[in-house]
Amino acid sequence: MPGLNDLVNAYPWPTRRPDAPASEWGWGIEGRELLDSMLPKEARFVVEIGSLLGSSARYFAERYPEAHVFCIDPWFDVDSAKDRPFLNHAPELTEFVTKEKDGIYQIFLASNWELRDRLTPLRGFSPDMMSPVHSAGVEPDIVYVDGSHVYEDVLADVAVARALFPNAVLCGDDWDWPGVKHAVNYLAANRGDQVHSEGNTWLLQQNKAAERHPAPSAHTVGAVERHPVVRMLRQVVGQRA
Ligand SMILES: C[S@@+](CC[C@H](N)C(=O)[O-])C[C@H]1O[C@@H](n2cnc3c(N)ncnc32)[C@H](O)[C@@H]1O
Repeated sequence: MPGLNDLVNAYPWPTRRPDAPASEWGWGIEGRELLDSMLPKEARFVVEIGSLLGSSARYFAERYPEAHVFCIDPWFDVDSAKDRPFLNHAPELTEFVTKEKDGIYQIFLASNWELRDRLTPLRGFSPDMMSPVHSAGVEPDIVYVDGSHVYEDVLADVAVARALFPNAVLCGDDWDWPGVKHAVNYLAANRGDQVHSEGNTWLLQQNKAAERHPAPSAHTVGAVERHPVVRMLRQVVGQRA
């Protein structure tokens, strides 16, 4: 897949491991039994939205030793530890994160250095950063959603993931967050999908029938072409061309 190499090369790791503390800390995945029973046995590509220090990304890398994991996260800096509640759980990182430019990103790189051939950090915001994956022709088997937990953001994440990667299993974290639950339920209700949850983990089981939009018949196409507004628009466009 030539696009894969271009994509990976466009988001390179530094040539040397950053001089940053490595950390195994992370929210981890609660409700693994659900993922164990419902995720595909094999996967070539995983897209993760919201990687932080890489805990859940490592879960996917370990679960699928042949897979490549694309990690989308802005890894933005903070002025104060108060802005980053996770530092309450990993206070040993606080000084580095608040003083060093790109501190959180450097910790992510240092912590996952050994996996650098199989993790690609797509630094930026979702849903935008799913676009380069799609443009490269990469079709993820799984999209794991654990970025912003604001309703509109989660809805954008799941709707864009579904549109760009119709064959991927969508799953994610923090089911107990209202914004997450409402957005996932909204998409599921619209698409006829079934929602599964266990602990904080959720997973959408697709209603495959809803994916099959029948191709328009010749009759329908003809009727559209004959519609007066369509004919008028074609004339206007033709005059301008
Ligand atoms: C709950 S943490 C992720 C935890 C991680 N999955 C783990 O295993 O520890 C949420 C992360 O989402 C990131 N984030 C927030 N908004 C985002 C967005 N729009 N796109 C991508 N990542 C986002 C934050 O920077 C943060 O690192």
